[in-house]
Amino acid sequence: MMAMDKDGNRLLWNTAAQKMFGYSAEEMIGNNASKFMPASNREDLGHFIEHLRAGHVIHSIPDVRRRRDGTTIEVRISGSAFYASGELAGFIGIMEDATKLNTTERQLVHAQKMEAIGALTGGMAHDFNNLLGIIIGNLDLVGPILESNEDAQSIVADALDAALRGAELTRRLLAFARRQPLQPASISVNDLISDVTKLLQRTLGTDITVRLDLNGNLWNTLADPAQLEASLINLATNARDALPKGGKLTITTRNCEVPATDFGMTVGLKPGDYVSIEVTDTGAGMNPEVIDHIFEPFFTTKDRAKGTGLGLSMVFGFINQSGGHISVDSEPEKGTTFRLYLPRMIGTAAVAPQPEAQTYDMGKGETVLVVEDNDALRRTVVRQLTELDYKVIEADNASVALKSLVEAKVDVVFTDIVMPGEADGIDLAHAVSETWPDTKVLLTSGFPESKVSGDRGALNASIKLLNKPYRKSDLARALREMLAA
Ligand SMILES: Nc1ncnc2c1ncn2[C@@H]1O[C@H](COP(=O)(O)OP(=O)(O)O)[C@@H](O)[C@H]1O
Ligand SMILES: [Mg+2]
Repeated sequence: MMAMDKDGNRLLWNTAAQKMFGYSAEEMIGNNASKFMPASNREDLGHFIEHLRAGHVIHSIPDVRRRRDGTTIEVRISGSAFYASGELAGFIGIMEDATKLNTTERQLVHAQKMEAIGALTGGMAHDFNNLLGIIIGNLDLVGPILESNEDAQSIVADALDAALRGAELTRRLLAFARRQPLQPASISVNDLISDVTKLLQRTLGTDITVRLDLNGNLWNTLADPAQLEASLINLATNARDALPKGGKLTITTRNCEVPATDFGMTVGLKPGDYVSIEVTDTGAGMNPEVIDHIFEPFFTTKDRAKGTGLGLSMVFGFINQSGGHISVDSEPEKGTTFRLYLPRMIGTAAVAPQPEAQTYDMGKGETVLVVEDNDALRRTVVRQLTELDYKVIEADNASVALKSLVEAKVDVVFTDIVMPGEADGIDLAHAVSETWPDTKVLLTSGFPESKVSGDRGALNASIKLLNKPYRKSDLARALREMLAA
């Protein structure tokens, strides 16, 4: 708080002002307010006083001031004139240190921007997944028909290859939008890092030395191991690109407790226990303008041939979807540190095995009810199921499906989640498990509906989810697993 008389001589300079600016009350009081002020601030002061004289108040105006030691401080200024016996007597001002407030505001704007880009990319990826589902599904069907024609076979193989690359691209966009299907498991991050490092050595070459600084008592964490591995590879690849002449890459793990009193101020995390992974390189570093954009999909400073701009956006989406947080520290020529935080998992680590089946698991004549509103996609699925030796009934919405269920015995209902009409796939799933408890339900969606169980109560064990787009072999396996259970 500060006050001056109507001629601008300081009357009050309280302890908070002394602390904020480094000038003592003795130096300030009695002197003209412009003393010790740089010219630019003196000009501001003139404007403010004019404004206050006219009877206005100033409320929370952002400005920059200089401290005694020459450093600058971001402030918000409020002020008003005061009067004695109806006469103007002076001015009173309150300056708030706005450094933290401004930082928070900038972070909020940034978060909102990422949210908007996420919604856009997520929506697009979802629609593309449906289209790719039709393309991939039909190419899987047409391949065997063209068996004797080698030219046609290779054409189909090329088309399938491109469609699968398209699916990979949408997968990365979904990853950024925090909507990729994840298979979280309780994992030991140290073990995973040790494994990945063996892989990395080849990518990084001999000019880059990798140093591991792993906490021996590291907590376990809950995350998708394949995605965490991919994230570390992305970060290491970026470090390699930033180290054309070689250098050092350090990976550090630590336990990190965010106390309940922290309110996310330190690292942008909710209070709780986290495992932190730091990936530091001694490379080219980044300036603040680049840092502002690195997590956006398609942002790259590299050649078209070298960079896709999807590496960090994938890491960003994955870490956030896993309930964690990512931050970066970097300066040109000084190197870069990425910090990943993942929630602690209480319990023992068990790395989930990744089944890799290529052959089709055939049906045994069981009846599958296919519920899908997209005609082309439904036709594709019906053909796939018929080839897999299932009997197939079709419906293009939930109420038609319910009628079919009354009329025929159905072993599995295979339904899209998002459908027009009153009931969607989840409503249908609930209705089926209530009325026909022996009938299994396989849900499918272009979004991995982590929301599925969250929003409307847990689905019971006879309900499973298959994410779009899927190969015929994925569908075959999912059905066998359900029917065997
Ligand atoms: N370790 C790093 N050092 C310097 N710059 C980096 C580093 N990691 C990322 N960047 C910057 O962030 C950009 C985006 O990274 P990324 O999303 O992985 O896309 P890409 O690697 O395809 O360019 C890079 O083009 C680069 O400018
Ligand atoms: Mg990259």
